[in-house]
Amino acid sequence: MAERKVMERNDELIQKQYVYIDKVKEITAETVNIEGRQPTYEVRVFGCQMNELESEQLSGMLDAMGYTKAAPGEPADVIVFDTCCVRENAEEKIYGHLGLLKPAPGDKKSIVAITGCMMQQPHVVEKIKKSYHHVGIVFGTHNLYTFPELLYKHLTQKKRIFDVWDSEGQIVEGTPITRAEKVKAWVHIMQGCNNFCSYCIVPYVRGRERSRKKEDIISEVKRLAGTGYKEITLLGQNVNSYGNDLGRKDAFADLLYALNEIDGIKRIRFTTSHPKDLSDSLITAMKELPKLCEHLHLPFQSGSTRILKEMNRKYTKEQYLELIDRVREAVPGISFTTDIIVGFPGETEADFSDTLDVVRKVRFDQAFTFLYSKRTGTKAAEFENQVPEDVKKERFQRLIEVQNSIGAEINKTYEGKTVEVLVEGKSRNNDAMYTGRTRNYKLVNFTSSEDVTGKLVQVKIVKAWPFWLEGMVVPEGETS
Ligand code: 5AD
Ligand code: SF4
Repeated sequence: MAERKVMERNDELIQKQYVYIDKVKEITAETVNIEGRQPTYEVRVFGCQMNELESEQLSGMLDAMGYTKAAPGEPADVIVFDTCCVRENAEEKIYGHLGLLKPAPGDKKSIVAITGCMMQQPHVVEKIKKSYHHVGIVFGTHNLYTFPELLYKHLTQKKRIFDVWDSEGQIVEGTPITRAEKVKAWVHIMQGCNNFCSYCIVPYVRGRERSRKKEDIISEVKRLAGTGYKEITLLGQNVNSYGNDLGRKDAFADLLYALNEIDGIKRIRFTTSHPKDLSDSLITAMKELPKLCEHLHLPFQSGSTRILKEMNRKYTKEQYLELIDRVREAVPGISFTTDIIVGFPGETEADFSDTLDVVRKVRFDQAFTFLYSKRTGTKAAEFENQVPEDVKKERFQRLIEVQNSIGAEINKTYEGKTVEVLVEGKSRNNDAMYTGRTRNYKLVNFTSSEDVTGKLVQVKIVKAWPFWLEGMVVPEGETS
């Protein structure tokens, strides 16, 4: 009964937006009639994969409203920023972009709209109100799906619209989406985070954990398979908590078993996992499910148990290492990637040595390394023993050197081997090459005389570069 109510409410919320989509479409149709051109849009996305996915939803709404994507470098009629605030430098970059868009007198004005995590912070919205008058629409992460309504109001009332909700509502199904890729697709399975790691702003700007219904996820993945997608990546701030809010135990593993059955989908990935929640049922699923790829992104953040406690991560260095061993044993050949923060308040040289120790012991294929950034509103921002910038930077440099040489050594072991690659298309940097990834997430650029986009092919690796592998396709039927 409660579930039916949520569904009815969902239909009501989304149908209202489709009414606004039609209304904006009438306005864009006028531009086509009068100016003989379709109005254009650009979506600029900053931050994580969740934002990438949401920028595809923003594009989907704009396409449905009669806009078309602007050619690269062309000024667009509507520019939407999907912002990130996880570190200070992300915010600075966005202010920089916004500043450059301030129109000179007499310039044709674009409509500038901003959404995303950064807008969930009241002090940021105040700053935009006061200092960035060319920004016409501001909305947050909880009401992304109301963009058609806000754009319509802005277009018809000719005034600035500020609409940021301070608490999360239900996840709304049915928002239009224009996906950037044709072979692999992001699928969000949950929103929000309950963990409150002491450095992290995400729980404040994304709200508490809310899971999508299993049936909704399955239908979406079936639709993707039906339109030719081969790989899906399930997204959530902490995917291992999937279903906790629905009162289900082992719901994430259960979901993976169901998705593994969908014809057409060849590979399944997921991110991000929290070490404290990585369950035995998930390890078993990784061992048993043929479509689940042999790669795990498992942020450890710091190797020091003392710092991990200060970070509120709820595991020790030893527990993390033990977890890695268990996963490795269950899934031979699995690759690990991770996130690491350097210079958390109070981090000593000994703490940092523990971080290096974990990096050396685990031998990650890749690590995303970050300088600790103080985020207003988080617990750690109040800690007094902040590490000086120069110390942080020096440790950061050392960490990168250690990790880069490990990554390069791992890559070197691939030379001469043949690997299975799911081909995503032509390489962005080199038109003569195709690009794709192995099951364990190695980036491979390779030559092929045929267009193999969307196919699973065998590629012989001829050279290992520090961050990617170079190869040539092995023609079907030939063994290497
Ligand atoms: N400073 C530096 N890095 C951070 N991250 C999250 N918050 C901060 C912060 N305040 C990093 C963590 C997380 C990744 C997405 O961003 O490593 O896993
Ligand atoms: Fe931030 Fe921790 Fe939640 Fe990840 S698990 S989003 S680091 S609070």
